[in-house]
Amino acid sequence: MTTVLGISAFYHDSAAAIVVDGQIVAAAQEERFTRIKHDAAFPTRAVEYCLAEAGISAAQLDYVTFYDKPLLKFERLLESYLGNAPRGFASFCMAMPVWLKDKLYTPRAIRKGLGNAFTKRLVYCEHHESHAASAFFPSPFEEAAILTLDGVGEWATGTIGVGRGNRIELLREMRFPHSLGLLYSAFTYFTGFKVNSGEYKLMGLAPYGEPKYADLILKHLIDLKDDGSFRMDQSYFNYAAGLTMTNAKFASLFGGPARTSEGPLTQREMDLAASVQVVTEEIMLRTARFARKLTGCKHLCLAGGVALNCVGNGKILRDGCFEDVWIQPAAGDAGGALGAAMFTWHQLLNHPRMARAGDAQRGSFLGPRYDEAETRRTLDSAGAVYHACATDEELSERVAELLASEKVVGWMQGRMEFGPRALGGRSILGDARSPAMQSQMNLRIKFRESFRPFAPAVLRERVHEFFEMRAGQDSPYMLLVAPVRDEKRLASGDSGTSAAAHGLDRLKQLRSVVPAITHVDYSARVQTVDPERHGPYHALLRAFERRTGCPVIINTSFNVRSEPIVCTPADAYRCFMATNMDVLVMDRLILLKSEQPEGRIIDAADHLKQFALD
Ligand SMILES: [Fe+2]
Repeated sequence: MTTVLGISAFYHDSAAAIVVDGQIVAAAQEERFTRIKHDAAFPTRAVEYCLAEAGISAAQLDYVTFYDKPLLKFERLLESYLGNAPRGFASFCMAMPVWLKDKLYTPRAIRKGLGNAFTKRLVYCEHHESHAASAFFPSPFEEAAILTLDGVGEWATGTIGVGRGNRIELLREMRFPHSLGLLYSAFTYFTGFKVNSGEYKLMGLAPYGEPKYADLILKHLIDLKDDGSFRMDQSYFNYAAGLTMTNAKFASLFGGPARTSEGPLTQREMDLAASVQVVTEEIMLRTARFARKLTGCKHLCLAGGVALNCVGNGKILRDGCFEDVWIQPAAGDAGGALGAAMFTWHQLLNHPRMARAGDAQRGSFLGPRYDEAETRRTLDSAGAVYHACATDEELSERVAELLASEKVVGWMQGRMEFGPRALGGRSILGDARSPAMQSQMNLRIKFRESFRPFAPAVLRERVHEFFEMRAGQDSPYMLLVAPVRDEKRLASGDSGTSAAAHGLDRLKQLRSVVPAITHVDYSARVQTVDPERHGPYHALLRAFERRTGCPVIINTSFNVRSEPIVCTPADAYRCFMATNMDVLVMDRLILLKSEQPEGRIIDAADHLKQFALD
């Protein structure tokens, strides 16, 4: 037995993954255990979990591999500072102590993190090699083009490569400071959201705006080539030298200063969101088309933070430049841990790889599971009231009935997901047909902005009836946005609000027969649910369909604003008791909020206070 532990750490979203004889055995992000969102510390708890899942100790590991090369990164920091001196002095001074404490001495930090029990060699992959490996090796393709796009690794900010059998090769790269991820983050910052976590909010806001500024971006900020590569005019940006993403020149180009995080969301932010989204899609499309030409491959694999831009992914798929696309669900830096481990196994140790139908990612259910006895112990000690279903059928029928009566259901089953999306292991579910559900779930359950869209989970066999996707098309990782089919849409007059409504008023329009998951531009971020990957989750959807005729429900992550997705039964019960969720389901146990002891209700404000706003 050969074991490889992959680690990503010290920037954001630290994670660990373990590969045993080429099989992905476990992977998890540190934030889920420490309850600190985007936790960047050495992933002590995630490593512990991975070792336990593989049944070995740190001393028994054969290889430990890190997802990037810290010294090359340090070189970039030094060169950027020297290139901008004396302007970059403040940020240089801010960065230095952190570097001197952990990052420069990564080998020591890793060994210490492993309790000094691991004495063999450490392996370092390049950041984009790790992303590329995470995209290709678990994919269902024997051969594929690979596209990685993110903020920045060591120097690379995007690469085009090719994967064949057990090898990947990176053919082209774009380098810092020119970066699609950083361009998107600059707009995330400028619209008042937090960089490295608010990018989703910006993407969700885009459909409310008009891409009025797209031409300005293309004319002044970037010089975009036909092959998707571009240069950014650094006189508008401050990230290479300063402590902010954008500067005064950027602000004057877009008609005023950046929005502060407390400031109101105006039409300008929505239009900026729409504009950078359009430009991002154009860059992704051009790059994908060029990758097709360069490699001649029919299939594409994607990773890197930008691959979480599911609207862009959907555009690439529908463009038809590739026959099929596979996206690593942990596309951000957490997935680098998995990529580094896979890279070590296949590329460095030269072990063969058999592409398998579906993929090797196991539905991304790679985290911890808790058995029913453990869950019962947790609930009993919390004084919780619950009912046990005797069979899986009873469970799906009862929960389907609750969903159909507009109850909001916390749903915890089996292993926790790896990657930022909840996929039916740690989800909150609701009735997609309900017009009130989007704002109710945003405001009363998640305590977050009302404009945030919800995503549908749909039976794979019926996906083409509701969305513009092929019959049977897989999207198990919720990384593709597709339009809702015309025949499922409602004319805007049906909703009683004026067709001319704009901005956030458009939220009130009833847009389709599944309004709770239809975004204002009639798009939806689709998760397909199938019997092979999804077991009880699939059975639940089937039961809901039998009862209502509708194969679509809402699936959102099991957490509140700024909280990492729940991991343990205790996390789940706490979140349930602090929100207006009606029902909690863990394995075959069902809890109704109305039956829980009054004294156990947790004040929502107290619960939210634990998590820094992201
Ligand atoms: Fe990255």
